[in-house]
Formats: sequence, C-alpha cells, structure tokens
Amino acid sequence: MDVVHSKGKVTKQAHVGVPEGTYEEEHGRETFFGRASHLYRTHPPTAWTRIEGKLRPRAINVNEMKPDDQTQEDGFWQLIAGNQDVRLYVSRRSRPMTYFLRDADGDLCYFIHRGSGTLESDYGPLAFTPGDYLIIPKGTTHRVVPEGDDNFFFVIEGTGEYRLPDRGLMGKHAHFDPGVMVVPEPDPHDEEGEFEVRVKRDNEFTSLFFAWHPLDVVGWQGDVSPVKLNILDHRPVYSPSYHMPPSAHCTWENDGFVICSFVPRPLEEDPEVLKVPFYHANIDADEILFYHEGNFFSRAGIDVGFITLHPQGIHHGPQPAAIEASKSKLRTDEVAVMVETHHPLVVSSEADAVVATEYETSWAAGMGLLGD
Ligand SMILES: [Fe+2]
Repeated sequence: MDVVHSKGKVTKQAHVGVPEGTYEEEHGRETFFGRASHLYRTHPPTAWTRIEGKLRPRAINVNEMKPDDQTQEDGFWQLIAGNQDVRLYVSRRSRPMTYFLRDADGDLCYFIHRGSGTLESDYGPLAFTPGDYLIIPKGTTHRVVPEGDDNFFFVIEGTGEYRLPDRGLMGKHAHFDPGVMVVPEPDPHDEEGEFEVRVKRDNEFTSLFFAWHPLDVVGWQGDVSPVKLNILDHRPVYSPSYHMPPSAHCTWENDGFVICSFVPRPLEEDPEVLKVPFYHANIDADEILFYHEGNFFSRAGIDVGFITLHPQGIHHGPQPAAIEASKSKLRTDEVAVMVETHHPLVVSSEADAVVATEYETSWAAGMGLLGD
C-alpha cells in the first residue's frame, strides 16, 4: 500500500507549483504524518452551498459565552466542547477564587487569552500574563487570583499527561529549550481559618475543608510540577520554500490530542510556494483553532476570542479571498492555539448557542455562490 502513483495533472512537489486553475487537497491519514495523496481539483472542496446533517464547520464566538465564574467568586468554567480524552472550557473569572481546585479528572492547560494575575499552587505561585500556557498536573491544588476583573482563559483539560513532542531531526532545542519553561518556588502560607479544597472527579465536586491554608508546602523536589511557557517563547519553524504543515508547530502532546502554537512568522518567499494552509479533509482528527491575537487573514469573519471547529470528514482550508490576499503578504502576525483531537468533539449547548452560522458556507459566499 505504500506505492506512490502519479496520475493526470499534478505537481511533483506538494504545495509548490500547484497547476494553474487547480486547488490542491491533501487527502492524508494520521493528520500530516501518514500516507497521503494530493488531489488537484478544479473547485475548492470547501465551497458547498448548504449542509444537511450534523457535521459542519463551526465558528463559536466564545466572547459571548457566560461562565458563572465571571459573576460568582465560587463559580466555575463553562464547557465549550469535549470527548473522552479532552475537554475545552472557557473561564472568565473576574475575582479571586474563594476555593482551591484540585482537578482529579486530568492535567490542565490554562491558556491566558486576556488578563494577568497569579496562579497559586502547592508548588508555589506563577505570575501570568496574556499568551501564557500554564500546565497544571492532575491533582495539583491551586487557585487563580486575577489582578483585574476582565479576564479570559481557554482551559484545556486532558486525561493524559502533558508532554513535549519529539522534535525529531530538529533536535531538542528547537521551538524552545525546555529550560525556558518556568516552574514555581515554594511559598508556604500559614493562615488559619476555614479553607475549601474542591476536588473535581467525573465532573463532580467534593469539598474538603481545612483549618489551615492548604498551600503549606515549604519545599518540593521531583519532575512533576506546574510549568509556564509563553506562546511567543515557541519559536516557529519556517522555510522560505516550503509551507510547513500545522504539525510542525506542535507545543504540547497529550493522550488523544495535541496543542500547536501559530505565532508571527515570515511567509514563504518562493512565488511558486503555497503560503496558506492547503485544503485537507483531516480525516483522522477534529481541529479546534482558538484565535488569540492578530489579523486572521485566512478566515474571514473570525475575530479574537473565536474558536473554529472543523470536524473530521469535512474539508477545510483557506477562503478564496485569503489565497489572493496571501500573494502580496510577507508576514503573518496572527497568534492562535490549535487543538487537534483524535476522537470527535461534542459541542456543548452553551457553545452551540453562540455559533456564527454564516461560517458554514463562507467559502461559497466568498466565491459569490450564495447571492447577496
Ligand atoms: Fe487543519
């Protein structure tokens, strides 16, 4: 099955010199690592004029979601989407938590979209600012103490452990040296009173009450701890003559999903080279993109704080206007977080309520196929 065939009008080098008047589609297995063929179509495979059925690209305006931690000090996050491996939440916490959280359902990745403050934990405090990834191992007792009241955190709870991907031929110093990650210093508290530790297991909470402050660790040693990494510490891999697949931007791996960081970088220089993501069916993964900052030129109508979800089986790729716009662009200044999941994601009813439905047919709209 590993025999490569070449039939009809093609280019020998994928993503370079795509035949005039064609749209290149990657029909690949295991996202961008497995067997693949490139198909050269005369129409973009994403320009359907309508959809019947439940699979559809979704643009979720997470800015419109209302987690109860936005208004209640003892409130919690709101689910955006999830499956058996990973759950994605939004937190808009406006005040310090009145309880300590110990998540026994999984490791946590807080991505700080907006706001700054301190994440206090057993291991000590970590100050956070926008763009930070805070990785909190399962079972770490912690509390979020924001500085201001306007905060927006994208929370990714994985049932496995967060780990760094194998950088392969690039070597272990590529993207970022592991030493760039910040770990906390002990900061024991000795206040008395009543302190609540809320343990989350199977999405239910059990509260433990203590007569002393639960963050009383005077020292720690080992290879489990919270870590902090800013998304701009992820140094993008770039080629002037080849469009790197999204998998080249992987920052974190977990069981059943990966997190990739798209950060500002120059665009490809070779005029023959595709500068926007090629169309792909992503037949083995659901793709979530969270738009953090910048101008998202490949996706019209998408703004910061939005999430797009592209389910497996439904093609995605750049809107026609983006392909044109990319021809004169030299750089991309967008910052986005991608979560690619092995199993299909189920969208929560709260997220479904803030979907921008015009996104589903925005490729056809961009080609003038939908009328006004
Ligand atoms: Fe994709």
